Amino acid sequence: MELVLDELSLQEKYKFLSALVIPRPIALVSSRDASGRHNAAPFSFFNLFSEEPAVVVLGFSSRSEDEDTDSRKDTLKNIERVGAFVINMVDRGMAVGMNTCATQFPPGVNEAEAAGFTMAPCRFVDVKRIAEAPVSLECRLFQRIELSYRRALVLGEVLCVHVRDDILDPKTKRVIPEKYDPLARLYGTHYAWLGERFQMAIDSHDEWKAKQKG
Ligand SMILES: Cc1cc2nc3c(=O)[nH]c(=O)nc-3n(C[C@H](O)[C@H](O)[C@H](O)COP(=O)(O)O)c2cc1C
Repeated sequence: MELVLDELSLQEKYKFLSALVIPRPIALVSSRDASGRHNAAPFSFFNLFSEEPAVVVLGFSSRSEDEDTDSRKDTLKNIERVGAFVINMVDRGMAVGMNTCATQFPPGVNEAEAAGFTMAPCRFVDVKRIAEAPVSLECRLFQRIELSYRRALVLGEVLCVHVRDDILDPKTKRVIPEKYDPLARLYGTHYAWLGERFQMAIDSHDEWKAKQKG
C-alpha cells in the first residue's frame, strides 16, 4: 500500500505518520512565563540531533488550525519569551505524572506540581527542572523554525545535563542500561518500554568481505 501525503486529511497524516515512525522518546518540557510561573508538558516530536553543538529538537503543533487566533501552546510561548527550557526524560515512576501534565490546565497552573512532581533549580538557565526526572537537559533556545502557520520546530542547545546518580557507573561514567528505562511514545494513548536490548558492531570492509567468503 502507498500513502500519498497530499491525498490524506490532516488527521490521517498525523495518525499514519505518528504510528509508523516509532518509538519516539518523550520530552517532559518545563518552561516558565515572564512572571516566573512554571509549566510542564510532554512532547514526543523530540530527539537529539547533534552533540557539537549539542542540539535537541521539539516539534510543536497549535491547538487549532484556525489562522485568526493565537493558539500556540504555552510551552512554545514560554520558550519564545524566555529563551530557555528544560527537557526532563520520563521513566516508570513518572509515566502517570507525565500524562497528567498533558491535561489542559488553565494558564498559570504548574502542571508539574499538579502531577506531584518537585521543581528544582537549574545551573545555567532560569527555568526549573523536575527533580524526580532520571535525566534533565538544561537548554537555551538555539533556533526557531516556522514550518507553517500552525507548526514550528524549536532547536535547543543543551548547556548542562543532570543525571540521577544510580544511572551512571561512577568509574566509567557510562550509562547502566538496566537502571535507565525511558518511556517511548507509540501513537495516541499507546506507549512502550524498551524491552530486549542487544549489541551489533559495525564490520570493517575487510571483515565484511571475509564473512561473504564464509
Ligand atoms: C506523550 C505525549 C506526547 C505529546 N507530544 C506532542 C508534540 O510532540 N507536539 C505537540 O505540539 N504536542 C504534543 N503533545 C500534546 C501536548 O503535551 C499538550 O497539547 C499540552 O497540553 C501542551 O501544554 P502547554 O500548552 O502547557 O504547552 C503530546 C502529548 C502527550 C501525552
